[in-house]
Amino acid sequence: MSEWTLSLTVDGPERTQALAERLGARLRAGDLLVLTGELGAGKTTFTQGLGRGLGVRPGIISPTFVLVRRHPNVPDGPRPGGPDLVHVDAYRLGSAAEVDDIDLEDTVDTAVTVVEWGTGKVEHLAVSRLEIVLERAVGAAVPAPGAADGAEDDTEDDDAEPRRITLTGIGPRWADGPPPLEPPGEWSAPGH
Ligand SMILES: Nc1ncnc2c1ncn2[C@@H]1O[C@H](COP(=O)(O)OP(=O)(O)OP(=O)(O)O)[C@@H](O)[C@H]1O
Ligand SMILES: [Mg+2]
Repeated sequence: MSEWTLSLTVDGPERTQALAERLGARLRAGDLLVLTGELGAGKTTFTQGLGRGLGVRPGIISPTFVLVRRHPNVPDGPRPGGPDLVHVDAYRLGSAAEVDDIDLEDTVDTAVTVVEWGTGKVEHLAVSRLEIVLERAVGAAVPAPGAADGAEDDTEDDDAEPRRITLTGIGPRWADGPPPLEPPGEWSAPGH
């Protein structure tokens, strides 16, 4: 079983989404993505970028209470006829058996399935999967430009924090290695 790992560091939510958008543009029906990271790490933020690249209906929010939300492909978007996005939050699901109760197997072959908190619960749904781990890049905090002054400045940039995003491709779908995600010079690969 093939396996590779690619680790990138991004400096804020826009970069997380830009990276995910590039990945989303490469995804196809049947792909399974398993997102791992602590509360607020950016799993839903990442999924919003995926949705842009996939060209599905916007409005991706955390499916915490509904567990599953389906975003249909937009016919006049960037990928007409492309797969829908099935976005799952498995936080409340205790086991693979509970995952089976929400019938993801009905859509996994025809849609792109993205599961937050899916580790250990959804691997049986597909032969291949892409595991994505989001981590606060401890010790790498860089103050956002201009964030020091202007106490009333409450823009989204105040939110920007570095994240390390690690992708691992498992199974024949990913045997050719990672898709090209890095515009040269724009993202830093952690050298240590
Ligand atoms: N580099 C970054 N990448 C992603 N999000 C970031 C980054 N820097 C700051 N943030 C902020 O962190 C928060 C991430 O929230 P998000 O809902 O995406 O997390 P989550 O992992 O889905 O959490 P949960 O486990 O509750 O579902 C957002 O408010 C976002 O703006
Ligand atoms: Mg979330």
